[in-house]
Amino acid sequence: MPVQTGIITISDRAANGIYEDLGGPAVKTAAEAYGWKVRAESVVPDEKRDIQQAVREQVRCGCQLILTTGGTGVALRDATPEAVREIAVRELPGFGEAMRMESLKITPNAILSRSLAAVVDKTLVVCLPGKPKGAVECLGFVAGAIPHCIRILQEVPAGC
Ligand code: MTE
Repeated sequence: MPVQTGIITISDRAANGIYEDLGGPAVKTAAEAYGWKVRAESVVPDEKRDIQQAVREQVRCGCQLILTTGGTGVALRDATPEAVREIAVRELPGFGEAMRMESLKITPNAILSRSLAAVVDKTLVVCLPGKPKGAVECLGFVAGAIPHCIRILQEVPAGC
């Protein structure tokens, strides 16, 4: 079965219709190119509560992977890492490390990104930068590890 995927765009301006959401559709196209099935899409403002609610809703709907785009930078409104960490059972630091290490070869601004991955319930949540190009590039740096990670998270413990 293809990886059941949810996408969340996190942006005050996209959520308020001030500009068109380009990040979500770019990440969706990339996810589908990896053969994953996108079954949920949301756009929320940079508010911790809204971000957490959208993540929980997609987890409840059976998403094994959630890709967020936006809110990872240094702007005072950027709250994605804090929102996701607060509801996560664990963080997977290798994802953020790889995204920054590889992105730094493309732009010095990558040092400003607080991209990360964490596990919420049994779902892998990968938080990508907001710029569509940056989000797709960062997904490309970690995509190879995602199916294996999801298989491990979905395993039924022995004795069940
Ligand atoms: N990573 C890659 N691969 N390519 C990019 O263009 N843009 C950076 C960075 N990471 C970028 C990137 C920029 S400009 C910023 S400000 C940070 O991600 C944080 O992005 P966010 O605040 O939109 O989440």
